[in-house]
Amino acid sequence: MTEPVLSIRNIEKSFGGIKAVGGVSFDVHDGEILGLIGPNGSGKSTLFNCILGQLTPDAGEVEVNGQKISGKRASELNKLGVGRTFQQLSVFPQMTVLDNIILAGQEHQGTMLSRLFGKPDAGLTGEAEKLIAFFRLSHLRDTLAGSLSYGQQKLVDAAMAFMAGPRLVLLDEPAGGVNLTMLANLKERLVAYNAEHGTTFVVIEHNMEFVMSLCTRIIVLAEGRVIAEGTPDEIRSNQTVIDAYLGG
Ligand SMILES: Nc1ncnc2c1ncn2[C@@H]1O[C@H](COP(=O)(O)OP(=O)(O)O)[C@@H](O)[C@H]1O
Ligand SMILES: [Mg+2]
Repeated sequence: MTEPVLSIRNIEKSFGGIKAVGGVSFDVHDGEILGLIGPNGSGKSTLFNCILGQLTPDAGEVEVNGQKISGKRASELNKLGVGRTFQQLSVFPQMTVLDNIILAGQEHQGTMLSRLFGKPDAGLTGEAEKLIAFFRLSHLRDTLAGSLSYGQQKLVDAAMAFMAGPRLVLLDEPAGGVNLTMLANLKERLVAYNAEHGTTFVVIEHNMEFVMSLCTRIIVLAEGRVIAEGTPDEIRSNQTVIDAYLGG
């Protein structure tokens, strides 16, 4: 067995009296597409935020490639090839598609200041254009992100996470509010990226059909705890999971 790409050990996070994440542990293996599902409020986004340092967990450890990452800033994580998307879109509507993706790359590199010193794109245009082409957005390269459809903006948002040159990408509801055509496109592109680059994905998603057909393994959270883990088929027929979704 190779070392896990991501290892989560006993992560806990409370907000006031509410235990949002109550001791979650699991490993993510190299090249897999792992789905993280669970009812609303089960702690999925909070767990992502604890993994990547947007929140400080009350307890627990996170390792990327065997290296503890607690306390590291986003730009340091990006040096390890770790990228993410947020549940809310993080595109800048007043900027073009290309500039949004270049800016994401600069943030990842921690080179925002380089803009002031005569390297306007920090050498990122080529990489950004490759991603734009990969996500089939080339015809929209110079369009303001704010004038794209919601689904197209979600694709731009995903492309921004990939500017970390990633080994591991965490996607928080990439298919939320996206129409069926864009959904199929997004799924097909993620699978293709995984196949071409061996990138590992952890995907939070409510759309069951999307998650079941995209992921090779699924972890289910309920009330801040892991209640099930298995293949899509195993999860589909798991009574504990069915009960959790029915509000048990
Ligand atoms: N910043 C916050 N402040 C207070 N409570 C929060 C905050 N973020 C999340 N919560 C609470 O933590 C729980 C888990 O939320 P969240 O991680 O967003 O769930 P999910 O992403 O699975 O829908 C919910 O009860 C939510 O209300
Ligand atoms: Mg969420």
